[in-house]
Amino acid sequence: MTDMDRPTASDGRPSLEELAARLYEQAADAGALDFEEPAVPPPPAPDEPVGFYGVGDIGLPMARRLLACGARLTVFNRTAAKVEPLVAEGARPARTEHELLEAATTIVTCLQGPDADRQVYLREGGLLAGDVAGKLFVNTSTIGPDLAVEIGSRTAAGGAGYLDAPLLGHGRYAALAGSLVIPVGGAPVDVARGAGVLAAVATVVEHVGAVGAGQVVKIAFNFQFAVASVALADAVRFALRAGVQPASLERVLVESARVSSPIRTYTRRMVDGQHQRRSTFATLAKDLDVANAFAEAIGEPTITGRAAAEAYRRGIDAGLGRLDVPALVHVRPD
Ligand SMILES: NC(=O)c1ccc[n+]([C@@H]2O[C@H](COP(=O)([O-])OP(=O)(O)OC[C@H]3O[C@@H](n4cnc5c(N)ncnc54)[C@H](OP(=O)(O)O)[C@@H]3O)[C@@H](O)[C@H]2O)c1
Repeated sequence: MTDMDRPTASDGRPSLEELAARLYEQAADAGALDFEEPAVPPPPAPDEPVGFYGVGDIGLPMARRLLACGARLTVFNRTAAKVEPLVAEGARPARTEHELLEAATTIVTCLQGPDADRQVYLREGGLLAGDVAGKLFVNTSTIGPDLAVEIGSRTAAGGAGYLDAPLLGHGRYAALAGSLVIPVGGAPVDVARGAGVLAAVATVVEHVGAVGAGQVVKIAFNFQFAVASVALADAVRFALRAGVQPASLERVLVESARVSSPIRTYTRRMVDGQHQRRSTFATLAKDLDVANAFAEAIGEPTITGRAAAEAYRRGIDAGLGRLDVPALVHVRPD
């Protein structure tokens, strides 16, 4: 019996909280909370002395990777003890933010999120308070486009460059392996200057526009990933409830996705607007209706199914049903 088959809280099954604790324990016992990604050979060291601010979960392996490339690296972290392993591996510690700025011309920041970034970059007496002319700041946090633009304008006002360079890929494992994917927003001259630093941690560095555009691309990817994951969980739940063998379900879903995942199949046509009629929007909508009706009938109504059906219905009512699925890009909420 899988956890999903167990009775629910109201009928004697564990609550979601109990289940969460048990799943975490099982994963930890099985050593499944960690995995390794094959390392990419380190590229040449960046030309400039690099400062690294924020050695948390993903910042630490990024800084390690810069060391592995031979970068002249100075490190700073609010909680000073966290830089000790890097110092043991050859990094110089900075005792203050301003020591970090003195030691480096390119400063990479990898901070927790909007509050931390606002605090570090924009507070009175913060990172940008002194003379930063000629420095390049490479901000790898996910902070949203508006804050990126705000910090970018402040750095520009101080005569410094700024790259909005959020991180995609397999998180800290990709950071350590040097295989992150980084959409970069910034002026071309800054993108060229930061290329060596970004190449140390990423295999794909794509200049996507001005400051702020990196954030847009990052949240666009994470948006679709988050929503698609809810749909996948819905599908797995009702298929298992219907009695399908887990291994068979996995094989068919994974193999089908290899040839027909929405990202692989439809992104180009959603982006370039070249709609075609291969399979139709209406056919997939019909299959979605069948799935929704089935899931409800077996007592596993889905979170995503009704919302998706509503999007297809609107498209069909507007006459998009004769086109293929990428036409969904034209369907908006009210
Ligand atoms: N982890 C991932 O897999 C992953 C993947 C993609 C993108 N990202 C992005 O990468 C960024 C860092 O993530 P993370 O997982 O490394 O976070 P984390 O482990 O929580 O580390 C956060 C870092 O920010 C510092 N910090 C927080 N508030 C601060 C403040 N007010 N002043 C100065 N420093 C402050 C922390 O310092 P202390 O050590 O003193 O707390 C720490 O160095 C986030 O924007 C995240 O969205 C992470």
